[in-house]
Amino acid sequence: HAIQTSGNCIRNVTSDQLAGISPDELVDPRPYCEIIRQWSTFHPEFSYLPRKFKIAVTGAQRDRTAAQIHDIGLQIVENAAGERGFRVYVGGGLGRAPMIGEVIREFLPEADLLTYLEAILRVYNQHGRRDNIHKARIKILVKSWGREAFAEAVEAEWARRDSDALRLPPEEVARIAAHFEAPPYAAEAAADRLDPALESDPAFARWYARNTVPHKIPGYRAVHISLKSPGRAPGDATAEEMILIADLAERYSFGELRVTHHQNLLLADVRLADLPALWQTLSAHDLAHPNVGTLTDMIACPGLDFCALANAGSIDVAHQIQSRFEDLDYLYDLGELRLNMSGCMNACGHHHVGHIGILGVDKKGEEWYQIQIGGSSENSASLGKVLGPSVPKEQVAEVIGRLLAVYLDLREEGERFLDTCRRVGIEPFRERVYAELEVAA
Ligand code: HEM
Ligand code: SF4
Repeated sequence: HAIQTSGNCIRNVTSDQLAGISPDELVDPRPYCEIIRQWSTFHPEFSYLPRKFKIAVTGAQRDRTAAQIHDIGLQIVENAAGERGFRVYVGGGLGRAPMIGEVIREFLPEADLLTYLEAILRVYNQHGRRDNIHKARIKILVKSWGREAFAEAVEAEWARRDSDALRLPPEEVARIAAHFEAPPYAAEAAADRLDPALESDPAFARWYARNTVPHKIPGYRAVHISLKSPGRAPGDATAEEMILIADLAERYSFGELRVTHHQNLLLADVRLADLPALWQTLSAHDLAHPNVGTLTDMIACPGLDFCALANAGSIDVAHQIQSRFEDLDYLYDLGELRLNMSGCMNACGHHHVGHIGILGVDKKGEEWYQIQIGGSSENSASLGKVLGPSVPKEQVAEVIGRLLAVYLDLREEGERFLDTCRRVGIEPFRERVYAELEVAA
């Protein structure tokens, strides 16, 4: 959901693409998003904040919403007594001053969702900086006061509220939740079997393994439509493709299509029995490249090709990477990898939280690229560390190849690239990358 765009207000409230369907979810986060939306939309008190404001809510064990890089991130949890509530993160964000959000409350009872958000917003509205646009986000306030002082100010503001009108009785949560009714799943889907198709068609089996994910309803899967096939600008779809995909959503997924912040699309509720036919159509239209979650499933902003703020191109670097790392078996062996790329420090491509992050920089009118490693926007989020001097455009894929070679040498059983980075630090990567590489003075 997004409204009041471009204002210094609560612009949007988001959750993840598997909301309501993932087996790893404690509870569907969407009703809480909707409750926050109804409260925040055109809220008179919060329509002129120091700066824009976004909130993410995750109900899953594995955070796919990037909650820790939002102004407020809410993770739905249960306390020891089995009551539902939220872990509250505040002050995350990327851009020119990237920061990971801090936990200011481990457990906020469900009923106090809005009273507590109101307290956070009041503290921010009063104390956030208005003199300098680059220092106006809530992350700067949290950083300058420190987590504890900020949390104390919020708690004090919360304690002094003059009314409990915003408290949420369980009936109100249930009333909103009723609007997120599950689609009419077919009970007989539980008997669907795919084994023959998976055994007889390796290409289908590969797509199934990479581009579809488990669903909480037996007999269903969620299907990622990869917009990252070789030669495609990451995340792009043509008008014809969008019409086709809309038809597929009608036909196979109750008319619903979701967009992921990894720049793919998702059909949330597809019956197992329908997967072979869906795959046939998707592959015939270059929409079934089985690379979801791998190196080439990268996030890339539009960069110099389209964006007036860019320092350097992203799309042509994406093509360079796609053509160097075409071999799917190599990509699968590398395992889960997040490569994120931005054409300038505004960080629309989330480069700080890529396992590998690439940032375009301008050096005397030429496009160069700073490389970072070790970032993540999931649970235990972290900002990547800059590897060293930036590298010229034509060497970006080569540098990535060297990083991957170090990972393959050093990884321990079951370690992803990110895990190895966290264990060994950036030094071994730095050494190998800069050996004999021409770099900026
Ligand atoms: C691939 C292309 C684009 C990318 C990657 C992109 C990226 C972004 C990002 C990251 C934001 C910040 C969102 C936020 O802070 O809430 C944003 C905001 C915005 N974009 Fe784009 N954008 C793209 C295309 C466009 C186009 C074509 C338009 C207009 C025709 C547009 C208009 C806006 C506006 C008005 C906002 C402010 C929304 C807000 O208040 O949050 N964008 N864009
Ligand atoms: S990161 Fe920079 S170059 Fe890329 S879309 Fe955002 S503003 Fe433009």
